[in-house]
Amino acid sequence: MRYYRGEKLKFLIVLLFFGTSAWAQTGTDKEIDKIIAQMTIDEKVAMCHAQSKFTSAGVPRLGIPEVWMSDGPHGVRAEINWDNWGYAGWTNDSITAFPALTCLAATFDEKASYDYGVAVGEEARYRKKDILLGPGVNIYRTPLNGRNFEYMGEDPHLASKMVVPYIKGVQTNGVAACVKHFVANNQELWRGHINVELSERALREIYLPAFKAAVLEGDTWSMMSAYNQVRGQYCSHNEYLVNTILKGEWGFDGVYLTDWGAAHDTKQSALYGLDIEMGTGTNGLTYSEKNHYENYYLAGAFKELVKSGEVSEEVLDDKVRRILKLIYRTSLSKNRPLGSVNTDAHHEVARRVGQQGIVLLQNEDHFFPIVDKKGLKIAVIGENATRMMTIGGGSSELKVEYEISPLQGIQERYPNAEVIHAMGYASGPSQYGRVIPSKLDADVLKAEAIEVAKTADVVLFFGGLNKSHHQDCEDGDRLTYDLPFGQSNLIQAISEVNENIGVVLISGNAVATPWTNQVKGLMQGWYLGSETGHALADVISGDVNPSGKLPITFPKKLEDNGAHQLGTMSYPGDSINVEYKDDILVGYRWHDTKKITPKYAFGYGLSYTDFEISEVVADKKVYASTDDITITCDLRNNGKLTGAEVVQVYIGKHKSKVERALKELKAFQKVQLEAGEKTSLSLKVSVKDLQYYNESKSDWELEKGDYYIYVGNASDNISKRLKITISDNVN
Ligand code: GLC
Repeated sequence: MRYYRGEKLKFLIVLLFFGTSAWAQTGTDKEIDKIIAQMTIDEKVAMCHAQSKFTSAGVPRLGIPEVWMSDGPHGVRAEINWDNWGYAGWTNDSITAFPALTCLAATFDEKASYDYGVAVGEEARYRKKDILLGPGVNIYRTPLNGRNFEYMGEDPHLASKMVVPYIKGVQTNGVAACVKHFVANNQELWRGHINVELSERALREIYLPAFKAAVLEGDTWSMMSAYNQVRGQYCSHNEYLVNTILKGEWGFDGVYLTDWGAAHDTKQSALYGLDIEMGTGTNGLTYSEKNHYENYYLAGAFKELVKSGEVSEEVLDDKVRRILKLIYRTSLSKNRPLGSVNTDAHHEVARRVGQQGIVLLQNEDHFFPIVDKKGLKIAVIGENATRMMTIGGGSSELKVEYEISPLQGIQERYPNAEVIHAMGYASGPSQYGRVIPSKLDADVLKAEAIEVAKTADVVLFFGGLNKSHHQDCEDGDRLTYDLPFGQSNLIQAISEVNENIGVVLISGNAVATPWTNQVKGLMQGWYLGSETGHALADVISGDVNPSGKLPITFPKKLEDNGAHQLGTMSYPGDSINVEYKDDILVGYRWHDTKKITPKYAFGYGLSYTDFEISEVVADKKVYASTDDITITCDLRNNGKLTGAEVVQVYIGKHKSKVERALKELKAFQKVQLEAGEKTSLSLKVSVKDLQYYNESKSDWELEKGDYYIYVGNASDNISKRLKITISDNVN
């Protein structure tokens, strides 16, 4: 190509400009190394630990800003004091509470997850936070775990697919997601020290995949350790988990920080991958001045190790490099958006995720939807019809601009009906770490509820759990699978005076439901945040057709759950160790393989319309190991209402040489169809996703031979099973 002289000069000038600007571009490795070279050891070490409850130090001398962090996964927590756990009492930090992540998982909708991440990230950006301490993706192993409501269910594939868009959404705002709690934090009892013993297969096939997807597909800029130990080392500084897997195999280039108070050793923190130590001296929830910042493991003691040469300065520089990279990705990012808070758009996302995540579990006699009409008398019973649920639960609690209660949602949506409320039962005030019983007379409350129910045309019972201690709350597990506060007896008693009952469970966990023969309707309502009452009324009234699917299994009784069938060492352990004896058979994998019928299965959820899956076909009969499996099927909406269905693809090895679950979720797709509409779907599964982790080879292995493909709309409702073969001759 010929340039005229003038053109060539112009081209050189342009090249010089872009070249230098690219070189001077902020956050490149070269730029970061230049900064590190100017820093003192004191300045570097100061960046590796907290300087307050929720910040770590910058470099004032060089204009490198501090790192500001905030909980949590469902919204931006109210401002906490600089140096203790008290709330700062600001008047400008009320925000939008989005639905709990179990509800988000129940949408089976990756786009919903992205929209959620963008919205909560905009609120974090507006509140000037650099790291949002969420999402959580610990696997739902037992219905007693106090924090399951913050996580994305029992299946590693679903959690992997739903966590990635959330991270990307948050990070479009120049705010770092912080995926937590790495790893195997599947109970709150003894969380601060319990040692988890589990097989490599369980670790690789069940507990790591969502974290791996968060790094390799989500590109999360930070990750938070779990409190517990795994195989004898704390997760905050675990050589195998952090150095070998997270930063080694996965190439994680972000910042690994502790949960608050989860560091326990200086040399291990230094050498086993910890980058920022937070919250030492606290249990992550309550106040403590012990171990003040200079006493942190990665403070004075770490500095001495570096100065003495016992730990190379490169170890310190690697931590600082990661932290500076995060700072350039966030507060020093040149094109960082402005963020926003409490907008109609955010309220719409919160309401839509709630609408899409609510799961219709039972609907006898078409109890739902309930149509508003003059003269209709609706009894709204239960403390959860009015109790605020955006508070409580632990570090994920929020200070909202508003919260629409279920009762308020019903009152607004049914202007022609007469809506009467009775509390029915009382649980007492919410308080970390202890239960304060209600002073109200339970018998009086029950009698009042029965009186209200007697004269009603329809009873809506809002019960469940309530994010207080032992009730879906951090730092404690549930003590029973049953509904607390006499709710089951109350439901039975109401059914004796009125058979027209619909129950809505506000909870983050499965619960015992012994009264389902005495009620007509049942919905899993989750914790839905600011728009709770609107989202529930949208579905109860039929304005929105329910499309949520369970991301968890409801066992008929607790002992049917895999973690609870194998003795107390399997759950909760002996306070020192807990052994994951259920191994790779978690949730529906256990129920399917052990042939234990659940009350409600993973992937289950009814609609107000009827869908039909047909013409299920795989594109081949025999596959090579490098192929994609393409499954096509038709989906028809045979009902009279628009609705959405989730087509699910499970795959299981036929006659495997090792123990494997009967089937495992490998693909899903949510589709909305008008009444009578039909469409064709195509779902892809990489043959590599059929591998199991071969412990003797310390690597993934693809078994050759026959597999079954199960296609349906629930793990226990399969429309078609196909057999395919992975050929022997191709690796
Ligand atoms: C808590 C939680 C963690 C939270 C952190 C800060 O103990 O375990 O999820 O982000 O401490 O509040």
